[in-house]
Amino acid sequence: MLEKIKALREEIASATASSLEEVEQLRIKYLSKKGALTALMNDFRTVAPELKREVGQKINELKNFAGEHINSLKESFATAEDPGLEELDLTRTATPGCVGTRHPLSLVKNEMLNIFASMGFTIAEGPEVEDDWHVFESLNFPPDHPARDMQDTFFISRNPADILLRTHTSSVQTRVMEHAQPPIRIVCPGRVYRNEAISARAHCFFHQVEGLYIDKNVSFADLKQVLLTFARQMFGPQTKIRLRPSYFPFTEPSAEMDISCDICGGKGCAFCKGTGWVEILGCGMVDPNVLKACGIDPEIYSGYAFGMGIERITNLKYKVKDLRMFSENDVRFLREFESAH
Ligand code: DAH
Repeated sequence: MLEKIKALREEIASATASSLEEVEQLRIKYLSKKGALTALMNDFRTVAPELKREVGQKINELKNFAGEHINSLKESFATAEDPGLEELDLTRTATPGCVGTRHPLSLVKNEMLNIFASMGFTIAEGPEVEDDWHVFESLNFPPDHPARDMQDTFFISRNPADILLRTHTSSVQTRVMEHAQPPIRIVCPGRVYRNEAISARAHCFFHQVEGLYIDKNVSFADLKQVLLTFARQMFGPQTKIRLRPSYFPFTEPSAEMDISCDICGGKGCAFCKGTGWVEILGCGMVDPNVLKACGIDPEIYSGYAFGMGIERITNLKYKVKDLRMFSENDVRFLREFESAH
């Protein structure tokens, strides 16, 4: 029996094949139900009990060897004659890849920027880590303004308290005006930071789009028309706007703008707290002090500015109740915006 096994091993070791069919014939010859190894197993029953252990081990070894040898013969043809290649159908539709979706804030930001681009605004960006001059000083903030307090602003260097995380994108106004001469017509999207406790209605970071137009003879009427066009394109042609007097250090006069509530159509509902209006932005005519600080002559030029929160606009458009959802990145929430693409 041991002789037989040895002979069979030598036979298999020297077996070669010149095609895949020949490999298959070798497999049938040695490893199939009617093959040489099955025959050996059958003979195994007749082996004397004291030899069974040794012979059994040898047969197993031979079986493994035969399997490996035939597989390696098969592999040597696989690249040359891969049956998979013959079956490859290049006209079949590919399995769709898994693609992500755009974040709702990016969707709304892009929509906002497109509307302003259609009115001739170009995009400007500035750093999130800023200095006091660009965020406050140049924008006419008095030295004791509460925004300059540690309570409201994240300072990066304490002494002097000069480097900080910008609290609004108005800082990009200064960044652009100090290097360019009018006409300037820009929108500045970006992330801003405020030292707020995180809740459904407030977050320590959020996003804004700032707008600035400086030229000769720019008036409040120009501002109003641009904002009306924006509101109607963003929220629909039925949208009404109203401007309420307000105060910002960098604009004079200043205003806040409301749009008619698109949930109740202005009749008053829980969303607009019964008023029929919802606030969306701050705006005004650029204060001459700001122009001067940036090297632009207020006797020749005038301009307007406005700033709004992207989260706020997104809430109005998609009724997201909790601000925290925007930064949790829960895919169930993000997938809801798939169809908005
Ligand atoms: N920077 C203001 C804020 O963060 C928003 C703002 C108000 C920007 C009036 C402006 C403006 O340009 O004119 O609340």
